[in-house]
Amino acid sequence: MQRIFSGIQPSGIPHLGNYLGAVRNWAALQRDHECIYCVVDLHAITTWQDPRLLAKQTRELAASLIACGIDPLAHILFNQSAVHAHVRLAWICNCVARMGWLNRMTQFKDKAGKDRENVSTGLFVYPNLMAADILTYHATRVPVGDDQRQHLELANDIAQKFNHDYGNFFPAIEPLIMGPAARVMSLRDGTKKMSKSDASEQSSINLTDDADTIALKIRRAKTDPQPLPGDVAGLEGRPEARNLVGIFAALTDTDHAAVLRDHGGQGFGAFKEALTALLVEKLTPIASETRRLLDDPATLDTLLRQGAHRAAAIAEPIVSEAERMVGFLKL
Ligand code: TYM
Repeated sequence: MQRIFSGIQPSGIPHLGNYLGAVRNWAALQRDHECIYCVVDLHAITTWQDPRLLAKQTRELAASLIACGIDPLAHILFNQSAVHAHVRLAWICNCVARMGWLNRMTQFKDKAGKDRENVSTGLFVYPNLMAADILTYHATRVPVGDDQRQHLELANDIAQKFNHDYGNFFPAIEPLIMGPAARVMSLRDGTKKMSKSDASEQSSINLTDDADTIALKIRRAKTDPQPLPGDVAGLEGRPEARNLVGIFAALTDTDHAAVLRDHGGQGFGAFKEALTALLVEKLTPIASETRRLLDDPATLDTLLRQGAHRAAAIAEPIVSEAERMVGFLKL
């Protein structure tokens, strides 16, 4: 059975993009893979997080993942800082990766913007930690949204250079970028990705939104004046229409073409109503299950602690071997 690893940051409420681009696929992959899923608190602090909120958000995210169908007993769910092997291997990755490789990372350029001199050095080396997360478990398949593609290419480059410099040890990583909503866009601007850090609350549907909030956000979602086209070619140059159709397709387990066969020619008023009904049907049970799990933080903490122990048991021999290969004295 192939081993899966993936992670998500506890820096804000998970949104529909996280769900459709990643977490829903994580849940499905549990059927025929050994899965390790991680709430990446080390990654979160690459931009400042209020310490009073970080622990709370880590728990909330863990609850939300379980509510989305992640099974913390049959598989592994834990918070990243609890397994020290990640940072040990991340240091080795820092020393293997080249400045030029990291300078090409578009997500760093987007996040740092004009403030490059003032962002944390952690934000710059963040993809090295992400590579370490995966390599720590010899995971071979990584389900992510489309925005993480470049980071996974870098992880493969790091693995290859380690293998070249120290001897063959790390397997190749296969990105799993799946479904019609691998890149969910902002509801306010179809050319911008839906993101936790977007200033406008109207730009994303959060997994904690209630039915009224979902209805309002979809009603206000940007569209264009034309009715929906009858085929996929008609979505060309219409990013907002493409986005809403993609969301509908993902929620109904179909594709853009199937949605347009059923809804082509419809105005956005009617289509938005259908989309709202679908979102409410799929998301409100997740929100209520999340609340239920958060009512019992002791049980949640126990699940995470046990997850971290089981993760560490896999990670420790792999990272120790990498350290030995580098030449560290292992006493
Ligand atoms: P993060 O926390 O930004 O996002 C978690 C997952 O959600 C996906 N995603 C999206 N998918 C579709 N449309 C969107 N608008 C959208 N926004 C986010 C992301 O692609 C991701 O799969 N660096 C990672 C976390 C990470 C990780 C790892 C992932 C740390 N270590 C090792 C895989 C393997 C991140 O910041 O994801």
